[in-house]
Amino acid sequence: MSMREKLDLLERRRAEAEQGGGAARLKAQHAKGKLSARERLDAFLDEGSFTELDRFVTHRSTDFGLADQIVYGDGVVTGFGKVNGRIVYVFSQDFTVLGGSLSETHAEKICKIMELAMRNGAPVIGLNDSGGARIQEGVVSLGGYADIFLRNTLASGVVPQISAILGPCAGGAVYSPAITDFTFMVRGTSYMFVTGPNVVKTVTHEDVTMEQLGGADTHGGTSGVSHFTCGSELECLEQIRTLLSYLPSNNVDAPPRGAGTDPRDRRDEALLDLVPDNANKPYDMHEVLKRVIDDAEFLEVQPDFAANIIVGFARLGGYSVGIVANQPAVLAGVLDINASVKAARFIRFCDCFNIPIVTCEDVPGFLPGLAQEHGGIIKGSSPDSRRNTVESSSTAPSCCLPTVKPLFPSSR
Ligand code: HXC
Repeated sequence: MSMREKLDLLERRRAEAEQGGGAARLKAQHAKGKLSARERLDAFLDEGSFTELDRFVTHRSTDFGLADQIVYGDGVVTGFGKVNGRIVYVFSQDFTVLGGSLSETHAEKICKIMELAMRNGAPVIGLNDSGGARIQEGVVSLGGYADIFLRNTLASGVVPQISAILGPCAGGAVYSPAITDFTFMVRGTSYMFVTGPNVVKTVTHEDVTMEQLGGADTHGGTSGVSHFTCGSELECLEQIRTLLSYLPSNNVDAPPRGAGTDPRDRRDEALLDLVPDNANKPYDMHEVLKRVIDDAEFLEVQPDFAANIIVGFARLGGYSVGIVANQPAVLAGVLDINASVKAARFIRFCDCFNIPIVTCEDVPGFLPGLAQEHGGIIKGSSPDSRRNTVESSSTAPSCCLPTVKPLFPSSR
């Protein structure tokens, strides 16, 4: 084969790889209101910054008809690119190829991305759209999940790990996102469940819809599995870019400094009226926060779950900070198990990545009652145990702004 013929063949294969599962499946993907794996990368990354790796990988298995279903890339597009000029490593699962299911080689591609991210100190972003383990492959695809989980664990606290759920993620496809740092979901198109509605019906005889079982609002408001609920895929990808702007690339670098114009010595007299002098009078802590942080810009994490505590990212004097604030407007700001777990996880993340923590404390105490005691309020997940342990062991700089009823005001 001449050099020219070889280059032509390469171009043909490149074009073929871009087709994924083919035009009909791509049309079906669009009809569900979903973008393709490559369209998502185009929308997410800085223009022209993406370098693809392992474009021509195919699966090894030949059982159950897989010998006739070979698609270049094996259902996942992987590589690196930039977000606001900083390197990130990404994988984007392609639902048009065998439902984005995870094969042995599909897993190997994801593992390579995670290892490169750890070696080069850059975040890993997973755009998930997968029906879980590739059923035809059996145990080797399950082994692929084990390899990913191991790397999730090794990368934890070393580089930020972010997951977007952009389709019906089932079975093994939900465990890895759940152990990453932040999970994003999209209303109406993204689902997470270990077993789907049909299995639930067979085992427990419960009739549930996909939405009730594992939709974006369920995981954003009830289970607390996801951290951000978005109205569309584009909004979701934009939100991930915003989140990254508050984070360092790894646990050694500092986060980028914001370009805000808010003067650091600004006074806000309205705070005198916002914070009541009567401890029984509720007020919205969001209003207080907005007046303290730079340009009133607050990226709230888990706004719909355990709303009696507020956590999220903001800037002070241009520097990223993590905010942890009691919310007197919800359940009078009491601490319960969910609020404690939410705050503990967030504080742990900030601690790992040296993001200073600002605590706004106004809390009447712990929530009494059977549900809390039976839920194990006095064991590891409790306000007085889990959160305190995490907070006490945190070495990130922190300061406390007691507003009305501080319980444990502390600052380092
Ligand atoms: C192989 C799969 C697949 C899978 C989907 N497909 N999931 N192929 N392995 N896990 C294929 C379908 O056969 C179909 O192929 C195409 O992808 C699109 O799927 P549809 O069902 O048409 O799409 P939709 O109606 O949107 O439903 C999506 C879905 C459903 C809810 C994800 O496909 C589904 O329930 N899939 C199985 C989910 C599951 O049981 N996963 C668990 C695997 S075990 P054709 O050719 O017809 O277009 C597991 C254990 C891990 O993950 C344990 C780790 C430790």
